[in-house]
Amino acid sequence: MNDLKDIIEEIKSRCDIVDVISDYMHIEKSGSNYTGLCPFHTEKTGSFMVSKSKQIYKCFGCNAGGDVISFVMRWENVDFMEAVKILAKRCGITLNRNISEEERQKIQEINKFREIHTEAARFYFANLLSRKNPGYEYLKKRGLSDKIIKKFGLGYSLNSWNSLMNHLLAKGYDKADLVKCGLVTHKSETNKYYDRFRNRVMFPIFNYNGKVIGFGGRVLDDSLPKYLNSPETLIFNKRLNLYGLNISKKSIKDDTLILVEGYMDLISLYQNNIENVVATLGTALTIGQAKLIRKFAKNVIISYDSDQAGQNATLRAIDILLQADIKVKILNLKDCKDPDDFIKKYGFEGYKKAIDESDYYIKFKIDILKNKYNLQNDTQKMSFVEEATLLLRRLKSPIEKDLYAKYLSDLTNISIESIRANVGIKVKNNYNNIKNNTNNRKIEQMSKIQNGYLKVEAKFIKLLMENKNWRNSV
Ligand code: GTP
Ligand code: MN
Repeated sequence: MNDLKDIIEEIKSRCDIVDVISDYMHIEKSGSNYTGLCPFHTEKTGSFMVSKSKQIYKCFGCNAGGDVISFVMRWENVDFMEAVKILAKRCGITLNRNISEEERQKIQEINKFREIHTEAARFYFANLLSRKNPGYEYLKKRGLSDKIIKKFGLGYSLNSWNSLMNHLLAKGYDKADLVKCGLVTHKSETNKYYDRFRNRVMFPIFNYNGKVIGFGGRVLDDSLPKYLNSPETLIFNKRLNLYGLNISKKSIKDDTLILVEGYMDLISLYQNNIENVVATLGTALTIGQAKLIRKFAKNVIISYDSDQAGQNATLRAIDILLQADIKVKILNLKDCKDPDDFIKKYGFEGYKKAIDESDYYIKFKIDILKNKYNLQNDTQKMSFVEEATLLLRRLKSPIEKDLYAKYLSDLTNISIESIRANVGIKVKNNYNNIKNNTNNRKIEQMSKIQNGYLKVEAKFIKLLMENKNWRNSV
């Protein structure tokens, strides 16, 4: 099933709505949108509008509207799957199998669930802005402007057991669907239904095409859990989506996205004009998310919290991003605990400077490693060099290897030649290089079998053999 869902997303990202509609009828650019005569009712002045940024069309005369698939459905007078097939053909995607009845129903269910989520988001948003409520006060206290609240569609879930449920039931939706969607919880012991989110600030989570697929809800005080997120549903997969990508994909600069941990971090940065940001959805970064990022940017700057948990998460995220062929840098938050904190203290200019000064990931890794050792102690220093060397050996580019061999040498006062030799950088001639590689391989094998003690010893002897200064000092 996921396959078909992916195919549809892919089709929508490849078939630009402006291009598709232009093939069917005449539209003209007007400001940031395109307008034309509505094909779905008779009119003399154009009330038909196409938005490139939102990838939707809308007729203000007859209220027809929707995405590229729904346009083709109406124009060609075909059902959803038929329209998908037409567009797939257009953008060169092969739908090489017939869609079963079961899948057809799933797709209908997906569309329905998305509709329910959009309606829920509208409801939460109206709660926040149309009446006095603690959610709005909370967001103001956190320094968010009305403009940014609108931009992210933030909302408030009332402090009541059934307000959302009743609202959606009144709109004609089915109770069972609301449960399947994760918006309503059913307690089977008592057979009671109640809203999952109550008295929380609501963050609608959009997929990268701008469809609401879930929510994160934050408490207004220090109670726990701080965030409650939608459960995994037919339309919500935490491991394959990223918060904010629907917005930030329009502001990618230098082929770079900034990665943060929290919804509030992202929104706070955005309010301060740092717009190319995405956030994970309360789980560790996954390879699926990294691949999604790679569709939009080649470089990522990780800007996680500065505490121990944030550092560990950074180390994990680095490896995942590298696997997805992304170039990774790490932003240093100095004395601040998270990006929200930082931008409040140092502003746009400060964060911009931190972006420019962000470290290549290998330096971050070496620095973290260094903190585990006391470099005043020779044995520890050698263990550090040994571990750091393993990091450098994994670098593909010889220039990078050399650059950070130099860094390692500066950190430890061990000669650059020894470090280069250890890292396997060509030094004098081929013979030396081959010898070094063989030595390195042997030592690597040894360290796998033997305990750390022997490893240090072996390295120690090797260092002594290679470096006269070391020999003398011993
Ligand atoms: P503030 O504390 O309001 O500034 O929010 P934040 O977005 O900065 O959150 P934080 O840095 O504490 O956590 C980062 C992200 O982890 C959040 O945005 C959530 O996605 C997730 N998260 C945090 N706390 C919880 C929790 O209690 N439960 C779940 N499921 N996710 C959480
Ligand atoms: Mn925070």
